[in-house]
Amino acid sequence: MVRQYLQLGSRTLSYLDNDPEAAGKPVLVMVHAFPLGSGMWEPQFRGAFQGWRLLAPDLRGFGGSTDERADGVAPSIDDYAEDIVGLVREVARGPVVLAGLSMGGYVAFAVLRRAPGLVRALILADTRASADTLEGRAGRKAMLTVLEHDGPQGVARDMMPRLLGATTRASNPDVEETVRLLIKRQSPAAIRDAIHRMMDRPDSLPLLPSLTMPTLVVVGEEDTLTPPADSEAMAARLPQASLVRIAGAGHLTNLEQGQAFEASLEDFLSGLPAN
Ligand code: MLT
Repeated sequence: MVRQYLQLGSRTLSYLDNDPEAAGKPVLVMVHAFPLGSGMWEPQFRGAFQGWRLLAPDLRGFGGSTDERADGVAPSIDDYAEDIVGLVREVARGPVVLAGLSMGGYVAFAVLRRAPGLVRALILADTRASADTLEGRAGRKAMLTVLEHDGPQGVARDMMPRLLGATTRASNPDVEETVRLLIKRQSPAAIRDAIHRMMDRPDSLPLLPSLTMPTLVVVGEEDTLTPPADSEAMAARLPQASLVRIAGAGHLTNLEQGQAFEASLEDFLSGLPAN
């Protein structure tokens, strides 16, 4: 696994690459959740997905990726889509399998609105297609206040009970520590702008029937942030979707039950038509 940097105009996009010399391998792009950065995918870079090139970007402002927004321009989820489109065009150089977990799923929908031809198959993990409800937006505003007063650490503290499932919290304290560290290393500006981008994202439900590529929907049985019922509703509206529920996992399925998460993705990938 190597950390790479791609220049996109005046911005730098940082990404993890399992095999920079790979030529001809199919590509899986993994888009991270809020507010974690590409580091959340590190377990998946340790030997799973043989035969695949994995790319995991830091969305702008997160990790090693810069963000330069002109004054007066509101942050938009489309900014993140632009990052993914840049990565796919410049590095993958052809259609990819696009995977997004939670906020990463919101970004996947934005990519699909913008450049559907770049996505040959889709993986939606612990995410939802609908926009924020009024209650959800109020929660985001409260989080902006927490961020202002207590920084990323305060956001980690408040989100933790919803990020991890009851099983993980009771039996695997290492995961909680990993997630706390992944959040603490992010800049307050990246977290603030991500909150605005999520809060103002459009409803993607009308998009679902047009997504005819093979799609895998994955959800933790104990996910309370984007509960299994949301995933079921989403899968039912997707023309070619299968759904996998991961036992013993909450919202961060890839970190909580890594092996089951990887097995479900590998099973899906092995059934795809050749590149
Ligand atoms: C995430 O995990 O990316 C966030 O919890 C998504 C959200 O807050 O809507």
